Amino acid sequence: MSRLARESIRPYVGWIVAAIICMALVAAATAASAWLMKPVINDVFFAKNEELLWLISGAVFVTFAIKGLANYGQSVLMSYVGQRIITDTQHRLYAHLMRMELGFFHDMPTGNLISRFTIDINMMRAAVSNALTGLGKDFLSLIGLVGVMFWQDWQLGLIAFVVFPIAVIPIARLGKRMRKVTVNTQEEMGQFTTLLEQTFQGARVVKSYGMEEYEKSRVRAIAERVFSLVFKAARVRSLASPIMESLGGVAITLVIAYGGFRVIHDSMDPGSFFSFITALLLAYEPMKRLANLNATLQEGLAGAQRLFELLDREPTIQEKPDAQALTITGGGVKLEDVRFSYVTDQAALSDMSFEVPAGKTVALVGPSGAGKSTILNLIPRFYDVGNGRITIDGTDVRDATFESLRGCMALVSQEITLFDDTVRANIAYGRPEAAEEEIIEAAKNAAAHDFIMEMPDGYDTYVGERGTKVSGGQRQRLAIARAMLKNAPILLLDEATSALDTESERHVQSALTKLMQGRTTLVIAHRLSTVMDADLIHVIDRGKLVESGSHTELIAHDGIYARLYQLQFRDEDQQQAANDVQAAAGGA
Ligand SMILES: Nc1ncnc2c1ncn2[C@@H]1O[C@H](COP(=O)(O)OP(=O)(O)O)[C@@H](O)[C@H]1O
Ligand SMILES: [Mg+2]
Repeated sequence: MSRLARESIRPYVGWIVAAIICMALVAAATAASAWLMKPVINDVFFAKNEELLWLISGAVFVTFAIKGLANYGQSVLMSYVGQRIITDTQHRLYAHLMRMELGFFHDMPTGNLISRFTIDINMMRAAVSNALTGLGKDFLSLIGLVGVMFWQDWQLGLIAFVVFPIAVIPIARLGKRMRKVTVNTQEEMGQFTTLLEQTFQGARVVKSYGMEEYEKSRVRAIAERVFSLVFKAARVRSLASPIMESLGGVAITLVIAYGGFRVIHDSMDPGSFFSFITALLLAYEPMKRLANLNATLQEGLAGAQRLFELLDREPTIQEKPDAQALTITGGGVKLEDVRFSYVTDQAALSDMSFEVPAGKTVALVGPSGAGKSTILNLIPRFYDVGNGRITIDGTDVRDATFESLRGCMALVSQEITLFDDTVRANIAYGRPEAAEEEIIEAAKNAAAHDFIMEMPDGYDTYVGERGTKVSGGQRQRLAIARAMLKNAPILLLDEATSALDTESERHVQSALTKLMQGRTTLVIAHRLSTVMDADLIHVIDRGKLVESGSHTELIAHDGIYARLYQLQFRDEDQQQAANDVQAAAGGA
């Protein structure tokens, strides 16, 4: 709570003070309107004083006008503060999440993160604005009204005053239960969002495996759980009203009985009595809201707690405070005794040492799950090595700034993300200032220009979620164009041409060969042509470097590479040979 005040509310103290002044006006006007009942009854109805009638009517009008205006003012001011808190927190949270290491986003379900931005932040806002309104408007009104009650008749005032605390105790208890229910609801809602997102995105898989019924029952089960939690919360919250209602009834009954008795026996004038009753009735609403305040506050605090937990989680991979910008001379990459594991005690890489000399191309080959992609994850520091080190031109990657480190390499990975934007923006992602000619040239080199021109709006066509659909091969070519445009000295290619058909692969391959010239390239190879072009081949198996050499050397060695070649590349090789024969025959 104090943290909430310190971090979210402080910038708006000025607005809040203005709002509270408005609220104080509302409270004063409310109390005044109750107080005015006394002259209305005594002077107008009993004394029939016509002069005072106009004066009092005027006073009543002014009181209500002030109340209306002040109410408008406080409501606008509080909405401003509340919405600002939402917007600021969203911005702060997003900025914080952008610092998180890649692994964080793999571990954290997306739905969970999204519900922080919507539900939790909203609850926090509700708590803040309700707390302020409760304290400002309702509490001050209550003080004013209780003041009027005591002013009119202190004995009656005491009766009302004793009943109020009795009503508050059970309602405070409810607040605690509220909080527990709310935390559970948030968790279920997060899971719910995640499940929805997954099944919509995976609609193809759901349909092709006939799992519609299964997913329906999963969604139903989770929706039902959310229902029962929300309903439980509503029940708890609703309990506050009847408690107030019946205790309010008791108070009013006592006051009417005792006050009426005194008016009849002339120890109290009717004006004071009516003024008192008016104050009591007017006190009912703010009292009810104050009693409910605890519940909203508890909900909001639960939301705030979850937000702060996230904001407190520091990224495990951070830039050193004294990090230097990398000075690239050739872009040579070196792994020295690198050990790494995603999960404790399960080494993904062990004692990996090799070098990608500046300007050379090194191919990584190995069975699936061997750890090839992991190596590419370590170089840009998506993860940090457990042991050993990785250097670029002799500098440990952990001593470099993120900007210079990631700026000196272009990565084309297996999973390709196209953003919900135009083709142009997707290619220029990372270099938004790139000139049109550069973008087109990169697209041409990636064999993407032709299919882009066939799209409805050419380079202005929207791709991604809500745009034109592109095939797997087209995505890959766009990703290669993006990497080409980046024009970085180090290239990291993770099976970059795996989704291409033979025709476009040939185009891209020649473009890649051009791109690789003079650059340091580490390529995870799945095609024989890539392997043959490499200066050196490293064979990775179960996280270890098992063989190194050129294609001919490795075949002669007759180890894992030779076996992989049999399985993976030989068909391709023969195909190529056949093509060559055909070409030769055709040429003859
Ligand atoms: N994010 C991750 N969390 C935990 N384990 C992972 C993660 N990514 C990969 N692994 C594991 O690390 C090993 C190496 O994976 P990877 O480098 O992707 O293999 P390759 O690219 O050679 O097919 C595999 O056993 C894989 O299950
Ligand atoms: Mg891989």
